[in-house]
Amino acid sequence: MWALLRLGQPRSGGGSIGDVTYPNWPAGFSFVLPVPCPILLRHFVMSFVEEIEPLKQAAITELNAAADLASLEQARVHHLGANGRFTALLKQLGSLPKDQKPAAGKSVNAAKSEIESALAKRKADLELQASLPKEPTDFTLPGRRRPLGKLHPLSQVTEDIVRSFRKIGFVVADGPEVEDEYHCFDALNTPADHPARDTQDTFYVQPPQAPTAIELRQEQQKASSLQPSPLKEEREKTPPSRSEILLRTHTSSVQIRVMEKQKPPVRIIVPGRVYRRDNADATHNPTFHQVEGLYVDKDVTVGDLKGTVEFVFKELMGEETRIRFRPHYFSYTEPSFEIDFSSPLTRKMGKEWLEIAGCGMVHPKVFENVGYDPEVWTGWAFGFGIERIAMIRYGINDIRLFYENDVRFLRQF
Ligand code: DAH
Repeated sequence: MWALLRLGQPRSGGGSIGDVTYPNWPAGFSFVLPVPCPILLRHFVMSFVEEIEPLKQAAITELNAAADLASLEQARVHHLGANGRFTALLKQLGSLPKDQKPAAGKSVNAAKSEIESALAKRKADLELQASLPKEPTDFTLPGRRRPLGKLHPLSQVTEDIVRSFRKIGFVVADGPEVEDEYHCFDALNTPADHPARDTQDTFYVQPPQAPTAIELRQEQQKASSLQPSPLKEEREKTPPSRSEILLRTHTSSVQIRVMEKQKPPVRIIVPGRVYRRDNADATHNPTFHQVEGLYVDKDVTVGDLKGTVEFVFKELMGEETRIRFRPHYFSYTEPSFEIDFSSPLTRKMGKEWLEIAGCGMVHPKVFENVGYDPEVWTGWAFGFGIERIAMIRYGINDIRLFYENDVRFLRQF
């Protein structure tokens, strides 16, 4: 675009610029002056425009060929860097004649953004590639399990017991852990001089506000009384004092609570926490768990009781389990028995028979206390400790392990 014009007169004196002669210039003096040249200029504009496409193609090809992010960056610098090939072309834009600039500028910028989008796409592809695992994924590998928590062994055993009883038509009932002496003892025909009622045997509590006589009467009226009961009537006249509120020592109190509210037949089991004033050692703890069972209907026999207990213990402790009844005394059953069982588990513990539960036919006095006619209704009840079952089942030799919440222990079940 610039032609070089030689100025001066090499031979004679004076010089000239074009047609103009400058005679005063010293002879032999000459210099070169760049002047705009239309032909060169046109050629320059043409080659500028023609260069766009091949430079763009070269850049895109090199970017797409980059095998990793490092070589992509090299390719970028090669074409779009400060001294890059395409940048060099862009720099020439300024030298174009004014009227050519807009069109040429448009083309070169369009090419530049094509290169930039090729760069961005390749970059995204390579980044994705880099984030993918190097090895191919084996979809046949077993999945990774999430570490799930599980039920406490006592809850597992309780659920098993409940499941077995549900199979034979029992439903789960519940009652308060903070109980009164009436439901825990009196109504269960447990005399005032019974050792279980000793303040050393149970936890007595002093509620901030013992229920008033009116509140108690209202509560008792709510419970449908089926027949007048002398003990109940007497009690309604004399509400419990504060010292008569205690933490229940057994789940048998729920027998009374359920029968007070419900007409026979009754078929319930009651899993729940109970309290005793025991020092903790390998076989005792001040809180533990029991399951109570109660069945009331017409013509219920010891045979029903034995059949039921046998069914449930076989389910819990295995098919080879045998049970036997030994005569015993409980104030709320007559006759009463202790249940022993024998299985490979008891033999593992070095014993043929292990005592496991108490049971018997519901005492007529208990029926009277809840307003059931003992001449019409018969029934059986039993109760046993859940910890004891779990300890025998899993071979655990210290009851305190259940309450320490040590995951190394709990994880095993
Ligand atoms: N309540 C008794 C205890 O805590 C267990 C028991 C024995 C429950 C005989 C009963 C039963 O229902 O009939 O040791």
